[in-house]
Amino acid sequence: MEIESTLISEAEIQKRVWELGQQISEDYSNREPVLVCVLKGAAVFFADLFRTVSIPVRCEFIQLSSYDDRTESSGHVRTVQGLNGNLHNADVVVVEDIVDTGQTLSFLMKEFQALEPASVKVCSLLNKPTRRIVSATIDYVGFEIPDTFVVGYGLDYAQKYRNLREIYHIKA
Ligand code: IMP
Repeated sequence: MEIESTLISEAEIQKRVWELGQQISEDYSNREPVLVCVLKGAAVFFADLFRTVSIPVRCEFIQLSSYDDRTESSGHVRTVQGLNGNLHNADVVVVEDIVDTGQTLSFLMKEFQALEPASVKVCSLLNKPTRRIVSATIDYVGFEIPDTFVVGYGLDYAQKYRNLREIYHIKA
């Protein structure tokens, strides 16, 4: 696997992240939402997004796994590390890196609903709508991208490239 070309530049990412943060701040202006970071892929996006939110906000972290160093999801999503905070009656915003087949999000929504929050919305930096297997509602989308494997800005291939500042196509 090698890096092919830039898909989304650092400036484009920062502008869009700021817009998403403003939107979330407006939508939750009278509330104190809990932004939940889905590790590891969303960590970089989350750190930037969280700091653009201008209202009182809490954070929680959950770690999932489904890829096992491949570019195709195994479809078997599992929780590596669960939530520690109490989300009962909370306004939850799940922060994802990318929604691809939708299987991870579907798994997550079931996990969250069981905790009886007041509401659950989803914010994903990237959306690959053409690859959906399970339907998914995404309330806040950073960018829609074509069916291509991407890395950088938190996204990995076999745990590499998460530190890159832009989002790149990768080729086999
Ligand atoms: P889904 O369950 O197929 O929707 O996959 C969601 C997860 O797969 C994301 O949270 C990512 O961690 C990973 N993923 C999907 N597509 C890509 C990609 O193009 N690059 C890196 N990771 C990806």
